[in-house]
Amino acid sequence: MKVRKAVITAAGWGTRFLPVTRSQPKEMLPIVDRPMIQYAVEEAIEAGIEQVVMVTSMGKRSIEDYFDRAYELEHFLAWKGETALLQKMKELSNMVDICYVRQKEQHGLGQAIYTAMHIIGNEPFAVMLPDDIIIGKEATLKRMIEIYEERGAGVIAVEEIAQEDTDKYGIIEPRPVTKGIYEILSLVEKPEPSRAPSRLGIVGRYILPPEIFEALMVTKPGKNKEIQVTDALQLLLKKQALYACEIEGTRYDTGTPLGWLKANMALALQHEDYGPELKKYLKTLM
Ligand code: G1P
Repeated sequence: MKVRKAVITAAGWGTRFLPVTRSQPKEMLPIVDRPMIQYAVEEAIEAGIEQVVMVTSMGKRSIEDYFDRAYELEHFLAWKGETALLQKMKELSNMVDICYVRQKEQHGLGQAIYTAMHIIGNEPFAVMLPDDIIIGKEATLKRMIEIYEERGAGVIAVEEIAQEDTDKYGIIEPRPVTKGIYEILSLVEKPEPSRAPSRLGIVGRYILPPEIFEALMVTKPGKNKEIQVTDALQLLLKKQALYACEIEGTRYDTGTPLGWLKANMALALQHEDYGPELKKYLKTLM
């Protein structure tokens, strides 16, 4: 069955980015010239996703406004004769079909995904964590959907991480299948380095079968007393195979100030309008 829908989770408190996130969603922080969340939406579109289900929460209304029509602004731009900008604004609100569900209490990524169950229904779907931005030749999600179609099983993106960082990620126990693709033998959420089954850490991109919802329904709170999707995937493994694919490209964790700065620098340097000037400027600072 075709993967048509993507859940983008945007309900967290953004604690790693306080105080900025006291009054604005981290997902709306700009990365060069677009808010962080737009990168996930664009990646979904590139992968052929037809509907985005955004899981939001209190204080995230600006995300909805961003992807909505802005009639007054459009009227103003038309009046000023700013045709190109007007066109850009209209395109933004027509990018893709987006619907919103609210996660009323923050009990973890697993619960956030579960919130979207009724909109997803009985079909495979993608999950994207927007603070993981992956810059590469091809959209990561597109490749993952191809692997899902080939293997007929769930696919999770992974990346080799430093041993001392295993307690920041879900970690898989892999069995190599082909280059960059592994069968998952087990998974564990944020283990201590000494207990990690490998150094392959889960990145925020998943292609999941609908059976994940049954698993989430019976998943008990785990790490940090939250419902962890990693634990639900471990339950699902008892019934069906799951694969992992190594991402190609560079991943930025833009949910932290340092990761956000790095992503801004890297992308701005590649930007045709800002890159050359920024490069010169950075040289004067070094
Ligand atoms: C979540 C997942 C974790 C995964 C990570 C990727 O953790 O629970 O398994 O490795 O996303 O970004 P979080 O970073 O939300 O704590």
